Amino acid sequence: MTTTAEPTPTPGTPGTTRPDPLDEIKIGGMGASRRRVEDNRFIRGKGHYIDDIVLPGMLHMEILRSPLAHARIRSIDTSKAWDIPGVRLVLTGEMMAARNLAWMPTLSYDTQAVLATDKVRFQGQEVAAVIADDPYIAKDACEAIVVDYEPLPVVVNPEQAQAPDAPLIRDDKTNQHDNTCFTWEVGDKTGTDRAFDQADLVSRITLHYPRSHPSPLECCGSIADFDRSTQKLTVYMTSQAPHIVRAAVALIAELPEHMIRIISPDLGGGFGNKVPVYPGYVVSILASILLERPVKWIEDRTGNLSSTGFGRDVYLDGEMALRRDGRILGVRMRSTSDHGAFFADAQPSKFKIGLMHSAFAAYDIPYAHLQATGVYTNKAPGGVAYRCSFRVTEAMFFQERMVQAAADDLGMDQAEFRRINLVKDDDFPHRTPYGFLTDSGQYEKCLQTALDAIGYDDFRRQQQEARTRGRLLGIGISTMTEPLGAGNSREYDILGIKMFDSAELRVHMTGKAILRTGARTQGQGHETTWAQIVAHELGLPADDVVVEEGDTDTAPFGMGTYASRSTPVAGAAVAMAARKVRAKARKIAAYLLEVAEEDVEWELGRFHVRSAPERGVTIQECAMAAYANMPDGLEPGLEANAYYDPPNLTWPFAAYVCTVEVDPLTGVWDVLRFVAVDDCGVRINPMVVEGQIMGGLTEAYAMASMQFITFDADGNCIGSNFMDYLLPTAWETPGYELHEVVTPCPHHPLGAKGIGECATVGGPAAYVNAVMDALKPYGVRNVDMPLLPDRVHEAIITGHDVSGAPPVRTDR
Ligand code: CDP
Repeated sequence: MTTTAEPTPTPGTPGTTRPDPLDEIKIGGMGASRRRVEDNRFIRGKGHYIDDIVLPGMLHMEILRSPLAHARIRSIDTSKAWDIPGVRLVLTGEMMAARNLAWMPTLSYDTQAVLATDKVRFQGQEVAAVIADDPYIAKDACEAIVVDYEPLPVVVNPEQAQAPDAPLIRDDKTNQHDNTCFTWEVGDKTGTDRAFDQADLVSRITLHYPRSHPSPLECCGSIADFDRSTQKLTVYMTSQAPHIVRAAVALIAELPEHMIRIISPDLGGGFGNKVPVYPGYVVSILASILLERPVKWIEDRTGNLSSTGFGRDVYLDGEMALRRDGRILGVRMRSTSDHGAFFADAQPSKFKIGLMHSAFAAYDIPYAHLQATGVYTNKAPGGVAYRCSFRVTEAMFFQERMVQAAADDLGMDQAEFRRINLVKDDDFPHRTPYGFLTDSGQYEKCLQTALDAIGYDDFRRQQQEARTRGRLLGIGISTMTEPLGAGNSREYDILGIKMFDSAELRVHMTGKAILRTGARTQGQGHETTWAQIVAHELGLPADDVVVEEGDTDTAPFGMGTYASRSTPVAGAAVAMAARKVRAKARKIAAYLLEVAEEDVEWELGRFHVRSAPERGVTIQECAMAAYANMPDGLEPGLEANAYYDPPNLTWPFAAYVCTVEVDPLTGVWDVLRFVAVDDCGVRINPMVVEGQIMGGLTEAYAMASMQFITFDADGNCIGSNFMDYLLPTAWETPGYELHEVVTPCPHHPLGAKGIGECATVGGPAAYVNAVMDALKPYGVRNVDMPLLPDRVHEAIITGHDVSGAPPVRTDR
């Protein structure tokens, strides 16, 4: 008897029966509310954050911070600290200076002290560092350092900073003769002046956007690990932009770039707080190089809240030229922002979207002019874009508060006033008053959807009726668009590095894949949503795609995640890389199907012969053939990378409508309902998008109702802990009703626009407008945020505006 061996199947053999088409939602493609894969480890406590990392021989670093806001350093005595057993190194500014590292450049071309040498310029500034066997010894040793300070007069607000006799804070800078950090203007001044000449009415508003802090759940930290034998420096770091840090270390410290590896592990939130380079990172790197041991620095909550990048702290005022029929003719805006002692975040005046000039992009206004000033004060570095693209949050807040004031001054309904002035659907592309080109949107539809959902007309009736019974109801609207997705590379750069982003996709032979991008998720769900883009482009189930970000040795070069740029730029790069993979797979499919490439058609997950759809190969079969049965002359493997340089920013739109009831006896206000209609173009994962919106609206609520960091006359920071700087809990957080409108972005490969920060940017004005609407019978025009009950109550009993940062209590 003879036996015949089973023939070995050739990998990638074409099938001859046509399978059912793939269901994109079932494979977790675009539009699927796929559960967040990263939550699997986060909710089990298995996240791998910086403080979870323990390296052999690791030492611990603590930072000594200044108790004074402005003082000359006469001397620093570290001898007692050195005497403590377990102390390995005590670093001072002088020792840093000897290595040319006492100062570092900031993202905005300013300089920042790493460890103070001459003076301290804010309370909490880094003065010395101790590296020891454990963090407790390091802390004790910090307390043993004796610093002799000579106190100097303190400047805590722009008014003091700009006074003629103000002490010069940045006397370290040549040619710095006052406390002005920058002055800048943009817009058509002459045209705007003409618009005001023609106005029937001019409406004015003055606002303060209080200093706030991104306060991520995880504070900042780093572990520097220099290996003398390989000359390699590995730094684990809480960074939203690890490649930028690597480039900065290479260019500034003149270390070879290929010998620097920055790893950004799981991040417990960022919100802009983890964009700047902080002194702690730099000192831990130097300490590791000197000691040839890994050095860990973990910031505590007070350190984070009192010394890392703050947001906002801007004084805003301006006026609007109006025609009696409700048309806006022009706008003037002035902003004075308090940047603290060092201008540490990205330079807003350098960027086209930098300051407030994204304002009024959603409105059809011919002329606008902005004058912006930034000042130095004795406060921690400010200007960080907290869940925001540069100053867009302040811009939208000013815009929506101004719009409400103008409607009131005209005696016009605020919804109707917006309807008259919003850009119409067929007006795109639309040139904004500051010169940007917006490309798509259905603004009126968003607004109407929100008004219908909240029952606007009914509420107005209820409001009237409630007023007759002494109850104060109010309704606030905020309609906004914002620029998300920096670059393009022609106009945007950070420290000269052009802004674009990247993705690299490798499909393994079994059809599973790994995707890496130059972005860095901090909780936004990239591990989930990027895999969905691959599923959409290739038909690979999203579960078969693992996503990695944050390691400069493995991820392609990218500019990181902030300003909701990931989907507009890195997300687009993911689609482009997947399309390149598909193009190569098509060649393999043609070979396997024995037809010309032109005769091959794509359907989700499968190529088939155009004239014989039942003859086809799946993307997985192509993947196998790419390694085991590729055509002659075709490079083996199935992978691609893409660098994506967006042609324009994306411009999502939102209409937020909020109703409130204010208690006239106490000033306490409650949100009755909050309706949000967001148009972020095509949604990759609707559930993730909704999570982004709810989170953003909650941060907006916090800013509107409870959050502020202020300073007493001596520059003491009031708000450096969560007893003073409040985060809303589930108890206070309002419920949100979410709706969507979808206007695909015409230039994004998936039609998507960014969403991450829209609600934080547009939300605050909706809450404040609602409370101001409720207070209208009292003639109150403005209460500055936060709308604490005592401030609202003061407005009610006095009938006056309540302005500026809340006064500091000194009675406790
Ligand atoms: O840059 P960042 O990740 O903070 O903001 P984003 O690009 O707006 O994206 C935030 C999250 O929402 C990501 O997981 C995106 O993939 C997701 N998203 C989406 O599913 N659909 C959109 N149109 C925009 C964002």
